Amino acid sequence: MANERTLSIIKPDGVEKGIIGKVISRLESSGLKPVGIRMARLSRAEAEGFYAVHRERPFFDDLVKFMTSGPVVLMVLEGDGAIARNREVMGATDPKKAAEGTIRKDFATDIEKNTVHGSDSLENAKVEIAYFFPETAITSYAWKASS
Ligand code: RTP
Ligand code: MG
Repeated sequence: MANERTLSIIKPDGVEKGIIGKVISRLESSGLKPVGIRMARLSRAEAEGFYAVHRERPFFDDLVKFMTSGPVVLMVLEGDGAIARNREVMGATDPKKAAEGTIRKDFATDIEKNTVHGSDSLENAKVEIAYFFPETAITSYAWKASS
């Protein structure tokens, strides 16, 4: 599989629960390498822009309110098939439907307060990474020996 980058967010409920380390540990254990990390408190405009694809959905206002309710951890993750791998480790959107051993199954509160975000396609990953990280803030490294 190709080396990819994806955007991961530990949402306000994850930060509130004090499980930043546990979430990052799960991601690292799956082979994903953080190459950019920063904390942020999203403004309403930032959250609305980030979730613009959901603007017409009935849960949009609640989602924006939730995502701006506390600090988040923004991360760029790199690795083999990083987009699908991250989604697999995260589990289904609704923790009630998430598989055993996934982050959402083990830590999420409900379908909204579901602890993590992960890009869902290569195209969206590029847009989402650029939304929060200038290329100069991403410190990639040779995580696979090239010789
Ligand atoms: P995410 O974008 O955050 O990684 O989550 P996802 O792909 O698994 O789910 P998506 O359909 O993109 O929905 C984005 C976020 O909106 C909230 N949501 N609430 N109340 C509801 O029915 C509902 N549905 C979605 C969740 O926080 C979801 O992660
Ligand atoms: Mg999504």
